Amino acid sequence: MLSYLHAYHAGNFADVLKHAILVHTLDYLAQKPKPYFYLDTHSGPGLYKLSDSESQKNEEYLNGIAPLWQSKILPPPIARYKQVIQQCNQENNSQNLDYYPGSPWIAANLTREFDRLSFCELHPREIETLTDNFQQDRRIKQFNQDGFQKAITSLPPKERRGLVLIDPPYEVKQDYERVVDVLIASHKRFATGTYAIWYPVVKRQTIQKMLNDIQHSGIRNIQLFELGLQPDTSERGMTSSGMIVINPPWTLWQAMEESLPFLAKQLGGEKGVYKMAQLVTE
Ligand SMILES: C[S@@+](CC[C@H](N)C(=O)[O-])C[C@H]1O[C@@H](n2cnc3c(N)ncnc32)[C@H](O)[C@@H]1O
Repeated sequence: MLSYLHAYHAGNFADVLKHAILVHTLDYLAQKPKPYFYLDTHSGPGLYKLSDSESQKNEEYLNGIAPLWQSKILPPPIARYKQVIQQCNQENNSQNLDYYPGSPWIAANLTREFDRLSFCELHPREIETLTDNFQQDRRIKQFNQDGFQKAITSLPPKERRGLVLIDPPYEVKQDYERVVDVLIASHKRFATGTYAIWYPVVKRQTIQKMLNDIQHSGIRNIQLFELGLQPDTSERGMTSSGMIVINPPWTLWQAMEESLPFLAKQLGGEKGVYKMAQLVTE
């Protein structure tokens, strides 16, 4: 089933958490002069115009990037994330918040000329846009293939350094199980890699099972970060979302300590919530 289009959600509070962690991790990897490999298993189109009808439908960016765009004072990791969003708008000839970058745009712009990138996308419309957006960049390979499968066959990378972003839509319930299976298989092939997995909190029970399975997989050095607009509820809809990071940069915990309380308040107001946990130690 391929009905999901990320444009409806571009720049929302879930993207803020995901992309702030992505920016921090890519910056960290770029501190060493050695090349690394970036794999985006579920890429989306890579760039969103916020005036498009899909983004305008629910204006989800109003609970995400928009209030941060207005803020003058931000914790340093969020100021750095905002700088990347500003760069994206400037490169598209805008001084305002007209565009929001997807993970492929962020990765393409924070990697160096000697790094290597692979993007996977199954949706026919999204792969076409993705290809249009990045076909000039010779470091990038795009695959109209299942990203879960591709993760296993792409690893280990020849660089022996790398980041794998796993960001499925969870429209089908098998995604929750496939994340765990693919993570275990990928980690067996490339144990020193960094893995970042995004997840929604719609029903706490469903996500708790996935988190328990990851926690008991035998994989070590796992951190969890969650940000929500309100506490869990039994009503429909996503209230929080999270990121699992395996082999995180050692600086990520402090960056999130500085960022999450601020983001919960700024985006969720009195109801905003966050969580940080070392799920498994090193
Ligand atoms: C949440 S969106 C990705 C957003 C993107 N990572 C970002 O941060 O900007 C998920 C994408 O995965 C695509 N998709 C769904 N199943 C897939 C699969 N098995 N392999 C690759 N892409 C898939 C969807 O078409 C959708 O564009």
